[in-house]
Amino acid sequence: MKILVAGGAGYIGSVCVEQLVERGHDVVVVDNLSRGHRQAVHPDAWLEIGDLSDVAFLQRVFSATKFDAVMHFCAASLVGESVSDPLPYYGNNLTNGFNLVRTMLDHGVKHFVFSSTAALFGEPRSVPIDESAIKDPTNPYGRTKLFFEGFLNDCDAAYGLKSICLRYFNAAGASEKFGEDHDPETHLIPIILQVAAGQREKVMIFGDDYATPDGTCVRDYIHVLDLAEAHILALDYLRGENISDQFNLGNGKGYSVLEVVAAVESVTDREILIQMAPRRRGDPAVLVAASEKAREILSWNPTRGSLKQIITSAWQWMDNHRAGYQG
Ligand code: UFG
Repeated sequence: MKILVAGGAGYIGSVCVEQLVERGHDVVVVDNLSRGHRQAVHPDAWLEIGDLSDVAFLQRVFSATKFDAVMHFCAASLVGESVSDPLPYYGNNLTNGFNLVRTMLDHGVKHFVFSSTAALFGEPRSVPIDESAIKDPTNPYGRTKLFFEGFLNDCDAAYGLKSICLRYFNAAGASEKFGEDHDPETHLIPIILQVAAGQREKVMIFGDDYATPDGTCVRDYIHVLDLAEAHILALDYLRGENISDQFNLGNGKGYSVLEVVAAVESVTDREILIQMAPRRRGDPAVLVAASEKAREILSWNPTRGSLKQIITSAWQWMDNHRAGYQG
């Protein structure tokens, strides 16, 4: 298939592109390289550098190739930042997403895989969280993703656009070649690994007074390669069934921030200095997925579920990329 991957130079996008290419698909990556990296694009994929705010650019890309499907990874995606600076979240996640979908529809492309998020649930009433749980985001990031899911439903009803929304819980880990390289880094696992590698003095623990067993936030960490496989399956499902749907993607097991610190200490055999800090605005206490629906309908079978395995892959990638993609 010919697939356009928007945001294919970013963390999760780059691993999905790798998996698509390995399965023989023709991939065109569209990325403005603001947070992504040229080196993160698989050499067998074609890279078009440009921004989704540039409709003329999008029209050119869609005119040059007749795509079978689009995968959309571009987003501003940091929970804390979305609270302090929501404007780019609405611009990137809504306006730019509209441009992409409108251009697809102009060119008759009707299959769309969307990177959605656990953040659209907000503080869950019960865990694990299944697809039907109440959606009440606690931050602008989650609100933009929830709104966009609604927009996709409307586009299905009106124009027959079929979409699969994949709601990631906490993506982590790396493939052999592609991993996480953000500047600045804000995610928990790479930050703790930077402490282990001596690149950072300590990790701040954002809140130890949550209603969780040890007072720190609980998250469901899912290996990026397992996420990438869900995208491939979503694409097959769209092509085969031509039905829109939404799926929660996680392992169904939560780890507190302090448990993640301990797991990194065990994997790296290094002591991690921690410091308690105030809560980060917008953080729900617990996010753990119920992913039975993806297992049943998509036949998704995540196989890299242990936290140790996830952290080990990220640690190996960091070891091979001491300065990230510049190294
Ligand atoms: N945390 C710390 N110290 C840090 C960094 C993070 O204590 O230096 C804590 C956070 O407060 C949170 C947990 O570690 O409780 C995980 O934080 P991350 O920043 O790694 O991830 P988030 O849970 O905030 O968000 C991630 C993605 C979102 C996605 C969400 C879904 O960045 O895009 O997972 O669960 F929506």
